[in-house]
Amino acid sequence: MSERRPIIAANWKMHKTHLEAIQAVQKLSYLLDRKDTERVEVVICPPFTALRSVQTLIDSDRLPYGLGAQNVHVEDEGAFTGEVSGPMLAALDVGYVIVGHSERRQLFGEDDATVNRKVKAVVRHGLVPIVCVGETLEEREAGGTQSKVAEQVRMAFDGVDAAAVSSAVVAYEPIWAIGTGRHAEPTDAGQVIEVIRGTLSERVGKDVGAAVRVQYGGSVKAGNIREFMVHPEIDGALVGGASLDPEELALIVKFR
Ligand code: 13P
Repeated sequence: MSERRPIIAANWKMHKTHLEAIQAVQKLSYLLDRKDTERVEVVICPPFTALRSVQTLIDSDRLPYGLGAQNVHVEDEGAFTGEVSGPMLAALDVGYVIVGHSERRQLFGEDDATVNRKVKAVVRHGLVPIVCVGETLEEREAGGTQSKVAEQVRMAFDGVDAAAVSSAVVAYEPIWAIGTGRHAEPTDAGQVIEVIRGTLSERVGKDVGAAVRVQYGGSVKAGNIREFMVHPEIDGALVGGASLDPEELALIVKFR
């Protein structure tokens, strides 16, 4: 039995105003009970504009959910119009930051070196990165999945100390499975996750590789979450579209 606590994170991407976010978290809190959140750690990652409202709700109603941001700047402060820094997130009681999501990599030009600087910015302020890695369909068809993912993992954690690596979360999100309704086979995802752990073990030791939590992401919904959660290598899910509906998200967390 693995000692790693499963973690299901809702990545709301660019959806929900702060009012809609509050409503969704309130609804979720009626649908989930303590037993659910003891079994699985639940993390809500709303847009920046809703972080403060969701944090206040979590705090005032003592909700057992973690709070995550979807991005961070590499620097702590400065003349970077439009950006948000690690210290700003830490001051909001944000616990997690999604780093290197494929949408950031593909649409906003983030490369592995930027992802590495962001991971360092996150851990520098005591926050936990959820580092996203995954291959394109072309890379998969060319047999390059494992080497691509291993390289992304190596680069993301380059120069990050073992303690920070061991508390980090990695999300394996094959790009062809994101928002497409076509999810990876759990055994296949499990094999890639073994490569992720192996890569980290080589760098910082076997104990660390075994401690890191690795999620699967890509077209996860209530109807398929169980297949992933029962796989011994998979420690939870990073859920996009299906997490926008609190009823569906509650079913995902309650997977049977
Ligand atoms: P979907 O669950 O909508 O496929 O998105 C996955 C994702 O990108 C989560 O970060």
